[in-house]
Amino acid sequence: MMRGGPVIAVDGPAAAGKGTLARKLAEALDLPYLDTGLLYRAVARLALDAGQDPAHPAERFAQALMPADMQRKDLRTPDVAQAASKVAAQPAVRAALVETQRRFAAERGAVLDGRDIGTAIFPDADVKLFITASPATRTLRRFLQSGGDVNTPDAQTLLREMEEALRARDEADASRDSAPMRVADDAHMIETDTLDAQAVLAEALRFTRERLVAA
Ligand code: DC
Repeated sequence: MMRGGPVIAVDGPAAAGKGTLARKLAEALDLPYLDTGLLYRAVARLALDAGQDPAHPAERFAQALMPADMQRKDLRTPDVAQAASKVAAQPAVRAALVETQRRFAAERGAVLDGRDIGTAIFPDADVKLFITASPATRTLRRFLQSGGDVNTPDAQTLLREMEEALRARDEADASRDSAPMRVADDAHMIETDTLDAQAVLAEALRFTRERLVAA
């Protein structure tokens, strides 16, 4: 496919730091950035608003998706995350969103983050990164980001519940039939348990530049 610039796929499980990395990569390389999780979150939000169980057919919401739906402030809640994982398991929902994602990169290339960018949306991406960390690390990061305090009496219970939900969502995203989350054969995996955001960016940029120069 002819494209106006490189496509960089950033895949990985929930709360691995893909979004932070992908946004900074896009900035550093002057490329447009798309958080594809927002597409599924927005579809889930519309289904929930309509009083619909997110496991029920939701493609009409995906087909009618408007840019403004992705800018809503209420897409980052745990309920919407779980519902997004359910609508995302539906092949018809995924099919309705494929062209939007491909078109986004057509003009200038792009950095896209998600679960299936390097395997299904852009199997021919110029650069594929898979960003991951242990469930405990990802849970703690999400907890601290959302203002959690590990010294409160209920912190351990909250962390345990969050980790269970995160594991369940990863399991659902990795085991569905339609474009499951998996590491592409030619992806560069970065495990971020012992790396801060700056070190992850440095490693991602190093690999990306190496690939783009070799191309
Ligand atoms: O990245 P996120 O947590 O915002 O994604 C929310 C859900 O959307 C995730 O659990 C699975 C789904 N998703 C997907 O199936 N494919 C993508 N490319 C991005 C997200």
